[in-house]
This record gives sequence, C-alpha cells and structure tokens, in this order.
Amino acid sequence: MRYQGILSILLLGGLVGLSQAADIERGRQLQMENCVQCHAAMYGGDGTTIYVREDRRIDSKAALIKQVKRCKNSMGLPWPTDQIDDLIAYLNQTFYHFKKK
Ligand code: HEC
Repeated sequence: MRYQGILSILLLGGLVGLSQAADIERGRQLQMENCVQCHAAMYGGDGTTIYVREDRRIDSKAALIKQVKRCKNSMGLPWPTDQIDDLIAYLNQTFYHFKKK
C-alpha cells in the first residue's frame, strides 16, 4: 500500500514534468511551421537568428508577448491562447531568458 502511494506520487510528478516539456516542444513546432520562413527571408540564417540579432528591440517579457502577437496577427492565425503561450514560453526559454513579466 505504502509503496503504491509513493509510486503514484512519482508517476504524477513525471507526468507534470512531461506535460511542461511537451508545451515547449509544441511552441517550437508552431514556430518552425509558421514563423521561421519569413524571418529567414528577411534576416537570413535559419530564421531564428532574428531573435538574437544585435539590434533586437525586445527588452522585456511584455515586449516579447506584444511582438509575438503582432507577428501572429499579421498572419491571421486564429490560435487559442495556450498555443500562443507555448510559443512565447519556447522563445523565452530558448532565446530571450526573461525572468519576470
Ligand atoms: C510575414 C513575415 C513574418 C512572419 C510570418 C512572422 N514574423 Fe516575426 N517578425 C517579422 C519582422 C519584419 C520582424 C522585425 C520587426 C522589427 O524589426 O520591428 C519580426 C520580429 C519578430 C520578433 C522580434 C525579434 C527581435 O528583435 O527580438 C519576434 C519575437 C517575432 N517576430 C515572432 C514571430 C512569431 C512567433 C511568428 C509566428 C507566429 C512570426 N514572428 C512570424 C516578420 C514576420
């Protein structure tokens, strides 16, 4: 009995960890499928260099969110908020590393 309890806690922890990782992965895929092509055409590289360019204007999480929405809206993508959040989380974790909002 006791071991089952411990086991389910471990399992639950694993699942929570997995689902968080999956969200970042989904953000990465969304970005690959929808965003890199245009960025690559305009700024070269593999389409992600724009996020680390020297003169980038994004200097906060709020600015990042604003820019993602601006780009997304210009494409007319009808994404639900959780997809946008995944994409922003992916960009922030991989390129921007903003700690606060
Ligand atoms: C039709 C072209 C186009 C598409 C498609 C596009 N973008 Fe952009 N994006 C731009 C341009 C142009 C800029 C530079 C804007 C500027 O310099 O102010 C930019 C800049 C950005 C930046 C800021 C880069 C920096 O300086 O740090 C982010 C973040 C971004 N885009 C996210 C996205 C995301 C996410 C998507 C996909 C949902 C996307 N973009 C799709 C054209 C595009």
